[in-house]
Order: sequence, then C-alpha cells, then structure tokens
Amino acid sequence: MKERIALTDYANRIQTALPKGILLNTNGDKFNSMVLGWGGLGVTWNVPTFVAYVRESRYTKAQIDKTGEFTISVPLNAPIPAITKVCGTQSGRDIDKVKEAGLTLEAPEVIRTPGVREYPLTLECRVLYAQRQELDAIPDDIRTAFYASGDPHTAYIAQVLRAYIIR
Ligand SMILES: Cc1cc2nc3c(=O)[nH]c(=O)nc-3n(C[C@H](O)[C@H](O)[C@H](O)COP(=O)(O)O)c2cc1C
Repeated sequence: MKERIALTDYANRIQTALPKGILLNTNGDKFNSMVLGWGGLGVTWNVPTFVAYVRESRYTKAQIDKTGEFTISVPLNAPIPAITKVCGTQSGRDIDKVKEAGLTLEAPEVIRTPGVREYPLTLECRVLYAQRQELDAIPDDIRTAFYASGDPHTAYIAQVLRAYIIR
C-alpha cells in the first residue's frame, strides 16, 4: 500500500538523509539502484523538482539517459549498511543489485521505475533537463578536490510526479 504525502512535509527528512546516501533507481536495460549523496528538492518551472548529480562514469547515467526517469528512495531510519555497500560501491554493469543488496521492488504509479520497500519514502521523477558540468567553470579548489581525474557530474532536474511512503 502507498500512502501519498505532501512533499514539503518530508523535505527536511529527505535533505537530512541525502548526505548519508539515499537511492536513485533506474529501469533501463534492467532495474538498478545507485547510492546518491548530492542533490536536493527544489522548484523549477513552477513544478516541484528533485535535482540529482550523477557522474559520467556511472552505469546509472546511461540508464537515465535511456529512459528519462528515475525513482528516489529514502530510508525512514538510518541507511542499511549492506545496501550502502552494494549500491554505493559496485556497478550495475557487473552485478544484479536487487539480488546482491536484497532489495524488494514496489510497482510504480505513473512511471516505469519501481521503488524499493526497504527505503519506503518514494519519489517518482521525470527528467525535464540534464546539464553536464563544465569543469572549467568550477572553482579551482573544488575542481582539484573532486575532479582530478575528470568524470564530471550531470545535474538531472526532474519533476516529482508522485510522492508516497510504501507501507
Ligand atoms: C554515501 C554515498 C554517496 C554517493 N553519492 C553519489 C552521487 O551523488 N553521485 C554519484 O554519481 N555517485 C555517488 N556515489 C557513488 C555511486 O553510488 C557508486 O559509484 C555506484 O557504485 C554507482 O553505481 P552504478 O554504476 O550501478 O550506477 C555515492 C556513494 C556513496 C557510498
């Protein structure tokens, strides 16, 4: 069962969970989940949005580019270490993360990418705009710290179409 929520009631919870790692799920060639720490809620073109920063090298990037959508899954308590480890260090190119991380999928309402029962706060998102970072435009200290070997992030601005908690 899905309990619809007002996004603004959970904004603080989502922002607090982010740096510890939430999940960005895609369903292109197959279902896959990546741990996401950079991003956030916002308003763009008068609609509620979620911005996700995904590095060029991620399997996830190619999958978002294929489907134009993703789900965001946020734990209601602390993140589960086994999920952080598998989904945050291994690639969907090499493994089946559903199996390896023990994820239970929940059918979506309006897009084609399921949510994850273990992280029940779910946002169904449709990509409106993708912008690859220009490394030359990033301050030197940050470029040195985060992009010594290149691999820029792409900012995906996505409309939040549904927000609910899987019960
Ligand atoms: C706490 C944490 C936060 C992370 N945040 C991001 C992020 O915001 N963007 C990103 O591209 N990778 C991030 N990663 C790394 C990816 O989750 C990791 O490279 C993952 O294995 C990519 O999976 P994929 O190749 O299946 O897409 C993070 C990892 C951890 C553990």
